[in-house]
Amino acid sequence: MKAWLLKDFGLDNLELGEVPTPQPKSGELLVKVGAVSLNFRDKAIVDGIYEPHRVPKPLIPVSDAAGTVVSVGDGVTRFKIGDRVNSHLYSRWLDGAPGPHEPDYCFGSPLPGGLAEYMIIHEDSAVRAPDNMSDEEAATLPIAALTAWYSLVDFGQIEPGQTVLVQGTGGVSIFAVQIAAALGAKVIATSSSDDNLKTVKNLGAVAGINYRTTPNWEDEVLKLTDGKGVDLLLDVAGGSSINQSVAATKAAGRIAQIGFLTGQTAQVNLMPLIFRQTTIRGIAVAPRSSFDRMNVFLDTHKIRPVIDQVYPFEKAREAYEHLAKGAFGKVVITIA
Ligand SMILES: NC(=O)c1ccc[n+]([C@@H]2O[C@H](COP(=O)([O-])OP(=O)(O)OC[C@H]3O[C@@H](n4cnc5c(N)ncnc54)[C@H](OP(=O)(O)O)[C@@H]3O)[C@@H](O)[C@H]2O)c1
Repeated sequence: MKAWLLKDFGLDNLELGEVPTPQPKSGELLVKVGAVSLNFRDKAIVDGIYEPHRVPKPLIPVSDAAGTVVSVGDGVTRFKIGDRVNSHLYSRWLDGAPGPHEPDYCFGSPLPGGLAEYMIIHEDSAVRAPDNMSDEEAATLPIAALTAWYSLVDFGQIEPGQTVLVQGTGGVSIFAVQIAAALGAKVIATSSSDDNLKTVKNLGAVAGINYRTTPNWEDEVLKLTDGKGVDLLLDVAGGSSINQSVAATKAAGRIAQIGFLTGQTAQVNLMPLIFRQTTIRGIAVAPRSSFDRMNVFLDTHKIRPVIDQVYPFEKAREAYEHLAKGAFGKVVITIA
């Protein structure tokens, strides 16, 4: 089969090649990949800054895929040939609390990913792809939508009328705006672009703050929330902006620590954190059971993924470059 292979770190070392088509073992599905979507994680893996010690070489990259089952191993009962499925990043985290070794079983490193004609998914980890979405749309769900969903619902327990702050207009954040608005929350969005802030208001945000022209954006959040701060803040920026996130979150509020766009380490000012009694929770996507619940919600609320651009398989490197420049919503690569 044709597959993109990361032979060493750096986008120049991502090469189109041919490898044997994998055969499904007991309990596994062979999936003809229709489309994949890129996440910041995929770019960080190529750049060698995401758990580099876990990355096998060569690696078939990209975790998030949608496609059709074309053959099954012995004993498969959950799916049959012809079913459309999604990959699920934490392939062994199915329900409840995570185990200690979940990162060892993630697609797109260390397990082979979907940037190829075929991929293997264990039936327990596969999720039925929504009938009303194309493969390009469904491929956006496994990390970006599910992380937003888990942060807002499983962790955040957001109720109508509560306030949520969402940072930037990338993959996770756009889904977060759509899902939080559908939950009845008041969403404040930040972005480096006034144009993006206008568009994000059309998706359900009630207010927008330009974090570039308003570097002390947390003060603006306090003004918008009667001095209290938001109930829940989805932090994708990371780095030392965590202190701004604490200031922008209400007393006894919650921060979902999702990302590390500006840095993987932070110097946290403990006194404000203690006085505000903030809960900061590390988020690592979600179990598969949460994915199943999210798909019902997306269908009920008619939420459609926002795709910035779809690239053909041969232009995978251009897709990575697009993500690096910043995308509004998702960047997708079609395989067929
Ligand atoms: N822990 C998890 O489970 C999990 C899951 C998914 C993602 N993540 C992490 O979350 C982060 C976002 O992922 P993604 O895939 O959504 O990325 P993405 O699609 O590449 O989003 C990037 C966007 O983030 C915004 N941004 C950049 N710097 C910012 C800053 N300092 N403050 C606020 N916004 C900023 C920009 O939006 P504007 O152009 O509008 O400024 C940019 O376009 C990454 O670090 C990723 O690894 C973690």
